[in-house]
Amino acid sequence: MATYSVRTSPPLRGEAIIHTAKNSVLPILAASLLTSDPVSVLGTPRLTDVDTLCELLRSCGCQVEWDDSGPVGRASAPALNLCARELCMPANDEPMRRMRASILIMGPLLARLGMARVTLPGGCAIGQRPVDQHIKGMQALGAEVALHQGHIELSGRLRGGSVYLDMPSVGATENIMMAATLAQGASRIENAAKEPEITDLAMCLNQMGARVAGAGSGTIIVQGVAKLHGVKYQPIPDRIEAGTLACATAIAGGNVLLRGARSEHMRALLFKLQEAGVIIAEQREGLRVRGKAVQPLAVRTMVYPGFPTDLQAPIMAVACFTPGTSVFLETVFENRYMHATELRRMGARIRVEDRVALIDGGPDMHGTRVISSDLRAGASLICAAVGAKGETIVEDPQGHIDRGYERIERTLGDLGAPIRRLQPDPPA
Ligand code: EPZ
Repeated sequence: MATYSVRTSPPLRGEAIIHTAKNSVLPILAASLLTSDPVSVLGTPRLTDVDTLCELLRSCGCQVEWDDSGPVGRASAPALNLCARELCMPANDEPMRRMRASILIMGPLLARLGMARVTLPGGCAIGQRPVDQHIKGMQALGAEVALHQGHIELSGRLRGGSVYLDMPSVGATENIMMAATLAQGASRIENAAKEPEITDLAMCLNQMGARVAGAGSGTIIVQGVAKLHGVKYQPIPDRIEAGTLACATAIAGGNVLLRGARSEHMRALLFKLQEAGVIIAEQREGLRVRGKAVQPLAVRTMVYPGFPTDLQAPIMAVACFTPGTSVFLETVFENRYMHATELRRMGARIRVEDRVALIDGGPDMHGTRVISSDLRAGASLICAAVGAKGETIVEDPQGHIDRGYERIERTLGDLGAPIRRLQPDPPA
């Protein structure tokens, strides 16, 4: 858990080194189960979601150690060394209930052992988040699937198959792609997700000896191989962390270099902020963000390359300050406006009707006590707090923010934001 105190910020100045992407690291950690060789994930961010998955991988018999011999990757973060020489069913279900991304061990376990047993992940604050497409994909690869006492039990030697996803699910694409690498024969995933994290996972799998083609195109072809070997891999930078910091700058103003950010992964956000008056410059070292947003926004979240749903909450904080009416449509998750309730406590004028939100922005945002309901909602409140008058106390009793942002108070503090963490440091 954590509590942050944030006061009105002067314009943000300096640079932030963007960490390695949480949503790339998590599937790549799961992919380490596909080989009995050692795997090193370089520049792994210190996030509680990473800790949770490491706990789960250990319960599957995988050795997992942080390499503290010194910084070896992005943002001077350490490597995480894994080795799944011996593999078994997870001995402890608890981490699976804590984090939805745990479902990503399903494909690798099934591919490596010919069986898998995972808990049916619960929904979360932002929606039901079913896993029917994951199951559909495993069945297409020849797995027998049974639901039993809240668990998904899968078995069978995998063979190549074809699946058309009803929606381009990121996790289902990742799970099926990983399972298909060791299936006998060729597999085809149609209507696959195109997020940069999908392409990153495919690149890592291919460096492990897999034969994955078409990642990022919507149709992925996987030629199964007998086994995969180890790899040392540096995943891509976190486009959502970079986008969140760009939103904070669009609120406080200033001149910030997002070192290591890759503009080609963030085009939808960058164009949206530019439409609102923010100056964005692509530089060799990363992205430079200058000035405040001054125009209202029209945001429709879509699967990649559309506007990312994970930045809907942070950019809504921007909309609270821009004069005029902004219009939001959240098309990916059915319940992703919880942050609106807390932003209203700060003076925001937000009307929500199902998946549409209207925000009448202006100068009336003021500090108060607010509570984080989920990871990106928490980030949204921190962003709003840097622009609000007076002090805002952001309570995060579930520790949502630490799940996806490594020491956000240090990152923003280094840019000049008057932010303090009132609770003990995040779990080591
Ligand atoms: C990934 O979640 C990300 N998490 C999410 O980021 C992100 O919001 C989401 O993709 C969309 O971009 C990780 O990568 C660890 P989906 P995932 O399967 O894979 C429905 C964050 O804040 N669906 O693409 O779970 C689902 O209900 C997190 O970092 C089914 O109906 O997302 C949702 O409405 C939050 N059946 C939509 O598809 C399925 O079998 C998109 O879900 C799977 C998904």
